[in-house]
Amino acid sequence: MSDFEGLTALVTGGASGIGRATADLLAERGAKVAVLDLDPSPVDKPLTGHLADVTDDVSVRAAVAAAVHELGGLDVLVNNAGIGAQGTVETNSDEEWHRVFDVNVLGMVRTARACLPHLRASAHAAIVNTCSIAATAGLPQRALYSATKGAVYSLTLAMAADHVREGIRVNCVNPGTVDTPWVGRLLDAADDPAAERAALEARQPTGRLVSPAEVAGAIAYLASPLSGATTGTALAVDGGMQGLRPRPAGR
Ligand SMILES: NC(=O)c1ccc[n+]([C@@H]2O[C@H](COP(=O)([O-])OP(=O)(O)OC[C@H]3O[C@@H](n4cnc5c(N)ncnc54)[C@H](O)[C@@H]3O)[C@@H](O)[C@H]2O)c1
Repeated sequence: MSDFEGLTALVTGGASGIGRATADLLAERGAKVAVLDLDPSPVDKPLTGHLADVTDDVSVRAAVAAAVHELGGLDVLVNNAGIGAQGTVETNSDEEWHRVFDVNVLGMVRTARACLPHLRASAHAAIVNTCSIAATAGLPQRALYSATKGAVYSLTLAMAADHVREGIRVNCVNPGTVDTPWVGRLLDAADDPAAERAALEARQPTGRLVSPAEVAGAIAYLASPLSGATTGTALAVDGGMQGLRPRPAGR
C-alpha cells in the first residue's frame, strides 16, 4: 500500500515499541517520517530522530520546528510517548501523579499545540493518540495510569470537535497488552515472569499479547487519507479484551 505517498508524519515516542513500529509502517507506506523521543539514538534511516522531552515545552517546540523544516510540512501527528505507573490510589505520591500526567496527557497537549499550525496547512491532516484499554476497563493496580489514559480518551474527543472544521481529524487507538520493551520490563520485574506473562495472555480472548505491528496497523488506518470520514473514534486493538465475554475453554 502507498496511501501515505507524498505525506509527512511525526511520531512521538517513536524510538521504541508501538511508536517505532508505527514510524516504520508509515515510512513503508510512503510517508516521510520523523521521530521525537527522549532517546532517539535507536532511530535509523529512512526515519530521522529528534531529541525532545514531551514534559518540556521549549524542547518540544524546537524538535517540532526542526522536524517540520526537514519534512517540508506536516500531515500526520502520532502522539504516542507515554510511561506507566502501578498501584492503587494509596500507592503513588503526588509527585508521581503530576509526573505521569505531565508525560501522558500534557505531553500530547504540548506536541499537538506545536504541530497544529502546520497541520492546518495540510489537505490530509490527522492526529492519532495512543490511548489504552485502561481508559475503558477497570484494571487492578493501575489507578494513576488509567486516569491519564481516561484523560487521553476525553482529550481525543474534545480535540476532534475543536478541529473538525479545520479539516484535522483526531482519533485514538486503545491497545490491550502489547509485546513491547515496556511490557518486557514489567515482566522482568515480576516475581514469576512466566506466570505473569501467561496471566496477561489469558486476559485477552485471543490468548496472546497484541504485537506492536498490529497497533501500528490500526494507527496507520486512522491516519490514512483513506479514513477521511473517521474522527473522534477510539479503535480497540486488544484481542477482544474490552468487548468480548467468552466462556472458559471447553465450557
Ligand atoms: N505496551 C502496552 O501494553 C501498551 C498498552 C496500551 C497503551 N500503551 C501506550 O503505548 C505508548 C507506547 O508504549 P510502548 O509500550 O511502545 O512503550 P516503550 O517504552 O517501548 O516506548 C515508549 C517510547 O516513549 C519515549 N518516551 C518516554 N517518555 C518520554 C518523554 N518524556 N518525552 C519523549 N519521549 C518519551 C521512550 O523513550 C520510548 O522510546 C504509551 O503511550 C503507552 O501508554 C502501551
